Amino acid sequence: MSDTVATPPRRRRVTPQSLLQASGVLWFTIAAAGQWMFTYYILGAYIPRTASGQYERWNEVGLINGYVQGDWLGNLGFISHVLLAAFVSVAGVLQLLPVIRRRYPAFHRWTGRAYLAVAVFLAVGGIILIWVRGTRMNDWAALGTTTDGLLILVTAAFTLRHAMARRIDLHRRWAMRLFLVVNGVWFLRVGYMAWAIASGGAGMSRSMNGPTDIVMPYLAFLIPLVLLELYQKARDSRSMPFKLVLASVITSGAVVTALGLFGAWMMMWSPNILI
Ligand code: HEM
Repeated sequence: MSDTVATPPRRRRVTPQSLLQASGVLWFTIAAAGQWMFTYYILGAYIPRTASGQYERWNEVGLINGYVQGDWLGNLGFISHVLLAAFVSVAGVLQLLPVIRRRYPAFHRWTGRAYLAVAVFLAVGGIILIWVRGTRMNDWAALGTTTDGLLILVTAAFTLRHAMARRIDLHRRWAMRLFLVVNGVWFLRVGYMAWAIASGGAGMSRSMNGPTDIVMPYLAFLIPLVLLELYQKARDSRSMPFKLVLASVITSGAVVTALGLFGAWMMMWSPNILI
């Protein structure tokens, strides 16, 4: 007979802190699913068109200038940018999962190095596509995406520096900022779609020079970065109302993200997937 005394299972209390944490987990779960949907789109849309040698069919997905006849260097730069984008979309989520960091530290280190290198390649390549290849509809919006690219370089440098110096808390904070700015272009697509559904496309134009088209590339990285800082402040704060306000803001953010993802999947991604 067992001599252990059966104790009733301990019930977890709902507190402002646990609500805040739950809102963060909810947002991250939706975002992680959205990252995998984006990856599926990238692979499903570009691999069949590239593997079959029908490069001109890249443009079917609605690009500014993807495949350009005779520009082999630009085309190579474009397709390497796109295919490596699939890697960061999968790897970023894996890097932030605590279970992977704890159980597979070597995997975390190697994927982290590859992630940093690819993020830098994407940022530099993206800036070259915009300003050298001329892939832009208007300069102000292009400047917004360029700022995001520059922030990728800055946050990647801090993430690496703190990791090498074993300042793990600072490394984690910068890695989260890096994750958000690397996903700036993903937030841009999701943000556009959420706004288009909620407002009926207010401020958007086909030639991409409406007010929404111009501010969205800036908001796509500014809003997530500000929310991350506030979330961390609320988590470390003793103020219960602050925690509750932030929990509601992040939960609303999760709903907006889900709405934008639904729109992006239905209108931008799934119609272009061939496999
Ligand atoms: C780091 C994460 C990034 C990811 C995951 C990513 C993803 C993509 C994808 C999937 C495309 C193909 C377009 C499509 O099929 O929707 C694309 C194109 C492009 N990206 Fe990125 N990108 C990233 C970073 C950047 C950055 C930082 C810039 C600029 C500074 C940039 C500039 C561009 C440009 C100019 C194109 C061509 C768009 C067109 O021809 O219409 N990307 N990117």
